[in-house]
Amino acid sequence: MSERIVFGATGLKVSPICFGTWQLSPRFWGEQPKTDALEAMNVAFDNGINFFDTADAYGDGYAETVVGEFLADKPREQVVICTKVFNHFNPDGSRYPDLSPDHVRQRCELQLQRMGIETIDLYLLHLFDPLTPLADVAGVMEDLKREGKIRAYGVSNHTLEQLRAQRRFGAYDAVQPLYSLVARDIERDLLPYCGAENIGVMAYSPLHKGLLTGKYTGDERFTDFRRYLPDFQGERFGRYTQAVRSLKPLAGKYGLSLYQLILAATLMHPAIQVAIVGIKKVGQIREAVGAMGQNIAREDYFAVRKALEIDGGGLQDARGVRK
Ligand SMILES: NC(=O)c1ccc[n+]([C@@H]2O[C@H](COP(=O)([O-])OP(=O)(O)OC[C@H]3O[C@@H](n4cnc5c(N)ncnc54)[C@H](OP(=O)(O)O)[C@@H]3O)[C@@H](O)[C@H]2O)c1
Repeated sequence: MSERIVFGATGLKVSPICFGTWQLSPRFWGEQPKTDALEAMNVAFDNGINFFDTADAYGDGYAETVVGEFLADKPREQVVICTKVFNHFNPDGSRYPDLSPDHVRQRCELQLQRMGIETIDLYLLHLFDPLTPLADVAGVMEDLKREGKIRAYGVSNHTLEQLRAQRRFGAYDAVQPLYSLVARDIERDLLPYCGAENIGVMAYSPLHKGLLTGKYTGDERFTDFRRYLPDFQGERFGRYTQAVRSLKPLAGKYGLSLYQLILAATLMHPAIQVAIVGIKKVGQIREAVGAMGQNIAREDYFAVRKALEIDGGGLQDARGVRK
C-alpha cells in the first residue's frame, strides 16, 4: 500500500517524496539522457511515488514535455502534477518576471498542452513578482481554478511576509521553499506559520543539491552550476563531506544509506510534509523510495542536525550564502 498524505489545505493526496525534474534543465545540470529520466519516473510511479514537480522554466519547457511523455500511458487520476509559472521568455533566451494575468493564462494553457493534460493539480508562482498587483495575480489563479485548468495553487521562494500578503487575496494553500538540514532558515518563521495555517510544505533541495548524499569525498570538482556554489568549494566542501560521512554508523544502525538517513530525518519536521528529490537516474529514485516510512529516534534526529552544524548552524540566506 502506497503511503499518501493530504497535502495541506489543497486536499491533494500525495506521496511524501516528490520526484523533481529540474535535472532536465541543461543550463544547470548539463544534458541528461531523456531515457534515464523517463525510466526513473516510471520506477518512481511503480514504487508508490505519485507526486511530480516541474516548471515552465526547467529547460524552457523541456522538462514539462518529458513529463507529458511520462504521463501518456498513466491513469491521470493516479498522478499529481505540480508546476510553476513566473518568467516571460524572449526569443533570444533571456527572461524576466511576469505574473500579469494575461501572461499567466497564456503560460498555463501552453503548459497544459505540453503535458497533454486538462488540469494542473498544483500551480505555483515560482518567485515573487514585484510589479504585478497581488489582487491581479490571485484573480487569474482563481479564474483558472474555476475553469478547471488548475486544482490548487501556492507559491515558491516567498518570504513569510510575501506569503501572508498573497494570502490576503487568494487561497494559496501550498509553498515550495528551499530547505535541508544545512539550510534551516525557514524553521524560524515560514514553517511554524505553515504548520499552524495548514499550508502544505514541499521542501526543495533536501539533499542540498547532492552535498548531503554521502557520495562525495571532498576531492570532487564540479563542472555544472555547483562550481559556483560556496558549499561545493575548497575547505568548506571538505568539512561538509566529512560531517556527512561521520553519520555512517548512525545510518547503519537503521540499515539505511547516508542519503536515506538524511532524507528520513528531513521529513521528520512536522511542517515538512513532502521532500522533492532531484533525480537523474533510476538508482537515485530507488534509494529515495527506501527512505519513506522510516522513523528515526528523537535523539538520533538531533545528532544528525548537530553533526551537520557547520558555519552558523544551518542558517543561510535564500541564495545559499552563509550568515
Ligand atoms: N522552486 C524552486 O525554485 C526550486 C529550486 C530548486 C529545485 N526545485 C525542485 O526540487 C527538486 C529537488 O531539488 P535538487 O535537485 O536541488 O535536489 P537534491 O535532491 O537536494 O539534489 C539532487 C542531486 O543529488 C544527486 N543525487 C540524487 N539522488 C542521489 C542518490 N540517491 N545518490 C547520490 N546522489 C544523488 C544528483 O546529482 P548528481 O548525480 O550530479 O550528484 C541530483 O541532481 C528539483 O528537481 C526541482 O523539482 C525547485
